Amino acid sequence: MVSYKELGLVNTREMFAKAINGGYAIPAFNFNNMEQLQAIVQAAAETKSPVILQVSKGARNYANQTLLRYMAQGAVEYAKELGWENPQIVLHLDHGDSFETCKSCIEFGFSSVMIDGSHLPYDENVALTRKVVDYAHQYDVTVEGELGVLAGVEDEVSSDHHTYTRPEEVVDFVTKTGCDSLAISIGTSHGAYKFKPEQCHKDPETGRLVPPPLAFDVLDGVMKELPGFPIVLHGSSSVPQEEVDVINAYGGQLEAAIGIPEDQLRKAAKSAVCKINIDSDSRLAMTAAVRKVLAEKKGEFDPRKYLGPARDNMKKLYIHKIINVLGSDGKA
Ligand code: G3H
Ligand code: 13P
Ligand code: ZN
Repeated sequence: MVSYKELGLVNTREMFAKAINGGYAIPAFNFNNMEQLQAIVQAAAETKSPVILQVSKGARNYANQTLLRYMAQGAVEYAKELGWENPQIVLHLDHGDSFETCKSCIEFGFSSVMIDGSHLPYDENVALTRKVVDYAHQYDVTVEGELGVLAGVEDEVSSDHHTYTRPEEVVDFVTKTGCDSLAISIGTSHGAYKFKPEQCHKDPETGRLVPPPLAFDVLDGVMKELPGFPIVLHGSSSVPQEEVDVINAYGGQLEAAIGIPEDQLRKAAKSAVCKINIDSDSRLAMTAAVRKVLAEKKGEFDPRKYLGPARDNMKKLYIHKIINVLGSDGKA
């Protein structure tokens, strides 16, 4: 058993309380490779933003759980080296799918876990989340639960299949489970294809597709039922069209990739939404830079020559999110 406290990590409790009171949100960036982690830590250290490093099941399989844990420990030391005296870094399990996975992560030094029982019948979601909370709280590890189903990854069904969170259920869920934060479904979804073109309208000035707004009435309903309780938004990439354009210009084929407009996320960040999950945007930033270098420099075969620019592009993206979308700069 390794305690996250020995690794210099923190849980989300104080971070979320400050974010709600301060009207900003904490960035939760997924990582599964070194360049991504370097970019996240550099961006957080330079802007003095608290940050949540998220590890999905896919990332654990790809990069190895042990290695990821040491990378997160390394991230704390690296942040200090960059002049961030007291780094506020959380290591979080994203979409934990079982009690055993959550337990294993807690024993490995994670400071926060998500147990995603959103696809289960309500009572089973409650029971599973409660079990994880009882275990996690013994070690002062915080737990994110979820109510409502997002489209995409979580349900592994079609992107049409989602159900908004029901505000009338949230008090019962939070009371019975004791979870520390709650992920809700208000129209965001995972991946780079969040809306169909026919759901959108065309911006007359830019010609870009503009998706329908998020269900802020559902968020308002949740906040009314649970005043001051930390709310989480998954699936919050904006799918920057400049990155999509670069990818497509250099041989990619991303057609009708559409994300959540940043003004919607800024509005959410000012409310009780205090954790905003972003993964796909970083994938796009990395891919755009790699495609560009490899297309322009046909003789290049040193990975540092394309992964370096990819890292720089991700860092630019993270800094932009922190300052212009989440408003978490200067808060750590
Ligand atoms: O919620 C999904 C995250 O973007 C993680 O995706 O399971 O492909 O690593 P992944
Ligand atoms: P995106 O696919 O919108 O980046 O969402 C990431 C996420 O929710 C990770 O849990
Ligand atoms: Zn998610």
